[in-house]
Amino acid sequence: MAAAFESQKGILHCEGCSLKQLARDIGTPLYVYSRNALVDNFRQFDRAFGEFPHLVCFAVKDTSNLSLLRLFRDLGAGFDIVSGGELFRARQVGADPQKVVFSGVGKKNVEIDYALNSNILLFNVESKAELDAIEARGKTLNIKARVAIRVNPDIDPDTHPHIATGLLQHKFGIGVEEALPLYRHAASLSFVEPVGVSCHIGSQVTTLNPFVEATQRVLKLVEELNASGIRLRYIDLGGGLGIRYRDECPPTVFDYAAALTRLLAGRPETLILEPGRILAADAAVLLTEVLYLKQSQGRQFVVADAGMNDLLRPGLYGAFHDIVPVEATERDAVVADVVGPVWETTDYLARDRSLPQVQSGEVLAVKDAGAYGFTLSSNYNSRPRAAEVLVDSQSYHVIRKRESYEDLVRGEKGF
Ligand code: LLP
Repeated sequence: MAAAFESQKGILHCEGCSLKQLARDIGTPLYVYSRNALVDNFRQFDRAFGEFPHLVCFAVKDTSNLSLLRLFRDLGAGFDIVSGGELFRARQVGADPQKVVFSGVGKKNVEIDYALNSNILLFNVESKAELDAIEARGKTLNIKARVAIRVNPDIDPDTHPHIATGLLQHKFGIGVEEALPLYRHAASLSFVEPVGVSCHIGSQVTTLNPFVEATQRVLKLVEELNASGIRLRYIDLGGGLGIRYRDECPPTVFDYAAALTRLLAGRPETLILEPGRILAADAAVLLTEVLYLKQSQGRQFVVADAGMNDLLRPGLYGAFHDIVPVEATERDAVVADVVGPVWETTDYLARDRSLPQVQSGEVLAVKDAGAYGFTLSSNYNSRPRAAEVLVDSQSYHVIRKRESYEDLVRGEKGF
């Protein structure tokens, strides 16, 4: 968790705002983001690449609230998008289209058209079929698309199997050895200009080696392309740098940047990066109120008002998020499951967790919830989605209202 979250007189604060007070004012479940943490994370990441020509495209899927995207845009970030909806968000905040890259295996024609009309920097193309679809749409609209081919370097990133993407068995990208013929094909097309190569090996990667190996494979391909007369302008190495949720020891952004720039030193291409988690995860907590304490078959349950519809990562990946009461007091520890109200066995925030003996009515902070937190939330069980708040020193702004019951049925009226 970022330094922006600190205890002051026994109460956890986000910058100058008491989390206990925020929960009281706005209610729970509540996502609370620190502006300082987001700014510091971005600046550190960006500065780590120093003078090396680079573009940091924040991965919108990590957290996509317009106020947060606007903040990143103001800091000079571009955006990595994976859908027309994410492009809409980027455009809503006035993102420079020349700083937008479009990833994803399943781009639909309407999304391709939207991106072509928006004049985005790059399509990260994941198959020959997609390349041909972009060519066809470009021809119809008379717009030439800049493309990078996403290669799959067949590297084991040693992360949770559900968030690894760079092995040949995964649906992402194309094998490195298939890339050369595909570039030749791209170069022969009229409405597609191959200007880059892209690669993303997975998420929550906590060692440098997979990044280094993937970059080496990409560079080998770039050399082969050069030898066959295809010169690129961009090398996009994706995102994926992990954070410490529990006891992981991920490399620092400086070590990460140094490892990549060492390999790329002297090259003419611009480096594109698509970080998400490393910029956003530790910049937010999810606040939840304890509803009930319950004992069943010798197990202790803490029933909270945030469930898997609010934070899916524990239920989906068994992910660990540290949980602390916002008010620290001397008390015994217990081992409990922290569960939500949702009608699923996988509806939990923590399992077999040693926690201070909490009481009903008190507020807990689920840490490191800023990436894949709100964006993975849903209305399952017809639960309105949580509010989001951005703290800026002593003040705060509700950047997304809590959904109402009316919001739940909007779009279902009139039949
Ligand atoms: N670029 C591409 C092409 C990606 O697929 C991803 C993440 C990123 C960038 C950003 O990766 P990051 O820097 O955030 O690791 N829902 C999962 C993670 C899914 C990752 C999807 N792709 C989770 O909660 O852990």
